[in-house]
Amino acid sequence: MSRGLAQGRFDAEADPLFRQLNDSLPFDHRLLVQDIEGSIAWAAAIAGAGVLSADELAQLTTALNSLLAEAKASPDLILQSLGRDEDVHSYVERRLIESVGALGKKLHTGRSRNDQVATDLRLWTRGAIDARLGELREARISLVNLADRERATILPGYTHLQRAQPILFAHWALAYESMLARDVARLSDCRARVNICPLGSAALAGTTYPIDRVKLARDLGFTSPSANSLDATADRDFIAETLFCIAQASVHLSRMAEDLILFMTQEYGFVEMGDSVTSGSSLMPQKKNPDACELLRGKSGRMIGSLVSILTTMKGLPLAYNKDLQEDKEPLFDAMEQISMCLRVVPRVLDGLKVRRDACRDAAMGGYANATELADYLVGKGVPFREAHDIVGRLVRHAISKYVKLEELALVDFTEQCKTIGPDVYEALKLDTGLARREVLGGTGPKAVAEAIERARASLRDFH
Ligand code: ARG
Repeated sequence: MSRGLAQGRFDAEADPLFRQLNDSLPFDHRLLVQDIEGSIAWAAAIAGAGVLSADELAQLTTALNSLLAEAKASPDLILQSLGRDEDVHSYVERRLIESVGALGKKLHTGRSRNDQVATDLRLWTRGAIDARLGELREARISLVNLADRERATILPGYTHLQRAQPILFAHWALAYESMLARDVARLSDCRARVNICPLGSAALAGTTYPIDRVKLARDLGFTSPSANSLDATADRDFIAETLFCIAQASVHLSRMAEDLILFMTQEYGFVEMGDSVTSGSSLMPQKKNPDACELLRGKSGRMIGSLVSILTTMKGLPLAYNKDLQEDKEPLFDAMEQISMCLRVVPRVLDGLKVRRDACRDAAMGGYANATELADYLVGKGVPFREAHDIVGRLVRHAISKYVKLEELALVDFTEQCKTIGPDVYEALKLDTGLARREVLGGTGPKAVAEAIERARASLRDFH
């Protein structure tokens, strides 16, 4: 067979190279289960509209159910039909006709592959989103567990990659947990827009059969039928939005990975990654490379590429369906696969992370990260903040010239710059003092962080 489902119109065979360009079975075979489920619901809908008798419906449903069982048991069987069927829809229809004979030819009544593919993709995307939501949850749990383990570990916080102020390691972990919590919320929102049923739109103008679209949508677990048949068959913004959610989550993972890569360098020396997620060098025997994290970082580029790809495909397309839309699938499938792998790797990286607490603390004590504390101390003594900022700036310069930390300066060094400074300055310069002053909601104070851990745990309990 060379013309698949549309023999009648053509005399000549399709060119083999054209077939190679045009066939989507090599990748849309992944929609097999969804295509059969959609077909089962469609058979019921056209039976409801009087197109099939009860007996015909029963026969078609039985045959489709056995195809469904086969698809679930042997998902690779369909690959034997590569080069034979153009796409997953033609494959299912051919198999159905082979199984029930001429009756199988009735199934496509009032339906087009255009509404069919849009429906299959929405069903597939919905399932994939649900799986990702579960994986995001596991990644969040591993971040909260890390925060819990390291709630007493003090780390230098950076801006401009310069040591800025001491923070708790837990606060760092919870920053990424907050990002992933937003990714969950975004993806759940997006799911609501994915979960709309295009069936009944036919090729572009709406089917001519009086089917109950509301019931059909519900049968497939959709919240409602689509509102406009042109839009339903031509729109792929549900894919773009899903890909944005994925790309954004991957960017969060990428930033986290980048932090950890830096933290694992000998220059920082804050963490050690487990052997199971690192690799050695083929040449340099001493190396332990953070490959898992480098790939979390690297894969994000590819996922951003998928988002750009679908947006670019869509941007100039006239209504309604155009074959360009067939290019929607591979970026979606690929991004889903990549983000899934990345999310599942996160707990392995974090659960096996050894934090070198002393090294973190030593680093937090260096780099004059407590200079803001000194300025705040002066403010507490009635010095206006701008003035305090200047005084501390001079004190830092003085300490740098003597190669000492602020807390290593003698009291006279302090009083030379500012008479108001007293011996209580040394208490103010301690790391724990600075942290304890940041108990504001969302701050890095130990109590605020303990509460944040509780809040995160509670939100993870509520979820699912
Ligand atoms: N394989 C096609 C796709 O993925 C299915 C829809 C085909 N529709 C058509 N009018 N040729 O988009």
